[in-house]
Amino acid sequence: MKLTLKIWRQKNAADEGRMVSYEIDDVSPDMSFLEMLDVLNERLILDGEDPVAFDHDCREGICGMCSLVIDGTPHGPEKATTTCQLHMRKFKDGDVITIEPWRARAFPVVKDLVVDRSAFDRIIQAGGYVSAPTGSAPEAAAIPVPKEDANKAFDAATCIGCGACVAACPNASAMLFTAAKITHLGLLPQGQPERYDRVVKMVDQMDAEGFGGCTNTGECTAVCPKGIPFETISRLNADLLKASRG
Ligand code: SF4
Ligand code: FES
Repeated sequence: MKLTLKIWRQKNAADEGRMVSYEIDDVSPDMSFLEMLDVLNERLILDGEDPVAFDHDCREGICGMCSLVIDGTPHGPEKATTTCQLHMRKFKDGDVITIEPWRARAFPVVKDLVVDRSAFDRIIQAGGYVSAPTGSAPEAAAIPVPKEDANKAFDAATCIGCGACVAACPNASAMLFTAAKITHLGLLPQGQPERYDRVVKMVDQMDAEGFGGCTNTGECTAVCPKGIPFETISRLNADLLKASRG
């Protein structure tokens, strides 16, 4: 396939940045989106140009590092997938594809398509842990957990911290991410001692980092590669209300 790529190039955090067009004509439909960018970067390196910086690690949908806004949608046109698992067969010969970084005040651009997502780490540090000794696997299994709670906690734990929810939200809110962590720990017996402290601390940190508030637009769940449901945010709000009533 022959494609035109319009890519955000920004030398560093202080640079203004701009869209730059590249023609690429040796793209196989079987390539992943990141492999297609590898091909472009090999060419740029051979031409003595600066390759496009982008985040990636596992390339199998589990680490949450890949973070591109493709044609205006975080992780691109395929539903419930990560950029690394998006394949070029989703596009057609002659397409013009725009590629931008996550855009949110709390995720400043480091270079090109790479943003600093350490704000998420600080939200986790504020309360995303349990103090109860969980012991080895057999001991943990000895604690009875209702099946429905276990399923919901497990589903919430599949959040990979990619930040697509923030990038899609018109308020750049981190509610879905934070709610996934609150749900994961708050539904399990081991998570009860800090349950109400946790929600207050994590929401305070979320606000301090500059993420916006949730106005129920639902854009977050529409792009979440792990299908974290909207009801997760209701659970966070319910816990926050209880915490504020003491
Ligand atoms: S809630 Fe979904 S979109 Fe948001 S960080 Fe977690 S996996 Fe990514
Ligand atoms: S590179 Fe790990 S989820 Fe995409």
